[in-house]
Amino acid sequence: MAEPQRVRDLPEDVDTDDCMTSYTHIYSPDLLKDQVAFITGGGTGIGLRIAEVLMRHGCDTVIASRNLEKLTEAAKKLMAATGRRCLPLTIDVRQPQTISAAVDETLKELGRIDILINNAAGNFLCPAISLSFNAFKTVLEIDTMGTFNTSKVVYEKWFKDHGGAIVNISATLGYRGQALQVHAGSAKAANDAMTKHLAVEWGPSGVRVNTLAPGPISGTEGFHRLGGNIADSMGAFSSIPLQRAGNKTEMAHSVLFLASRASSYVTGHIMVADGGSWLTSANDVSMLLGYWSAELKRDK
Ligand code: HXC
Ligand code: NAP
Repeated sequence: MAEPQRVRDLPEDVDTDDCMTSYTHIYSPDLLKDQVAFITGGGTGIGLRIAEVLMRHGCDTVIASRNLEKLTEAAKKLMAATGRRCLPLTIDVRQPQTISAAVDETLKELGRIDILINNAAGNFLCPAISLSFNAFKTVLEIDTMGTFNTSKVVYEKWFKDHGGAIVNISATLGYRGQALQVHAGSAKAANDAMTKHLAVEWGPSGVRVNTLAPGPISGTEGFHRLGGNIADSMGAFSSIPLQRAGNKTEMAHSVLFLASRASSYVTGHIMVADGGSWLTSANDVSMLLGYWSAELKRDK
């Protein structure tokens, strides 16, 4: 058996919602010089690290979600770590008028938008039988409607006349019908189709539309909510071909490729960055039901 993947191949990462204390560039630090990226859900987790890595490549950012306090704190950290501008703005991706106001503010303050990252999402483990109609609808509204709403507003107000790059953040949940995930899996599957539809319709305006589908990513809310820490402690990740969870910087590097001129002839593509996880990981309904009911009891 060959050596496992070399640790020195992995980029720097921190597990908390903080910026990295050191960073080794893979691409030129000027790759995105003076561009502007609008990142939904950019104040936490994977979205925050995407903001940091784009900023470390010369980009200014808008981070937009519901909780302004969290966003303001994140923007301060991002500006201190990178020396670029970061504008925190309140939106609910389910409400197009809030997105419209934020995009107007972005264009007034920063003058342009080059990159849109549709990263905002909501998820929790829940078996289909226990999922209320409203719970299913809520996740579809955040993940799917939210991605369409934001893409449409940014396209109408800027990309239609200037071109741009959209990167949606998806998941592999629907590929094998992941247990306890019918809501998020259905929502992300719709987004993967949307990626292709919009790539076809908006390509002639110079807009590329691509998607990144992460696997289990450590130090994130999604990892925590879907039982990643327990899975890790039980050795479940040894069945992943790369034998580990991914980290947030690895996701940001894949996004950097899709958002930048490094992928100038790539559109309508779903890039899976999961260490091969969806091919080999267990999809065990009774094990996940056991974890879910233990968590429910713990929360009572
Ligand atoms: C079952 C639940 C639930 C849960 C909420 N609901 N949490 N049902 N299990 N754990 C139900 C509620 O009872 C309600 O239905 C409906 O969902 C809406 O709930 P609200 O709390 O009113 O919604 P809202 O305030 O809009 O919050 C949305 C949310 C919340 C998705 C429920 O958790 C949130 O804001 N999440 C954002 C952060 C997040 O989820 N991050 C993880 C992303 S990770 P009723 O019928 O009672 O009205 C990710 C990973 C993917 O996507 C893949 C990993 C491999
Ligand atoms: P996270 O930190 O909870 O990120 C989700 C973000 O979405 C939050 O910043 C939240 O901010 C924002 N948000 C939620 N509802 C919103 C709404 N209605 N309007 C605007 N913003 C909203 O979770 P994460 O784990 O980093 O996930 C980031 C992305 O990666 C998601 O698309 C997720 O599906 C995907 N993903 C994650 C994993 C993983 O292992 N973590 C795996 C596969 C895919 P507010 O609360 O301030 O609104």
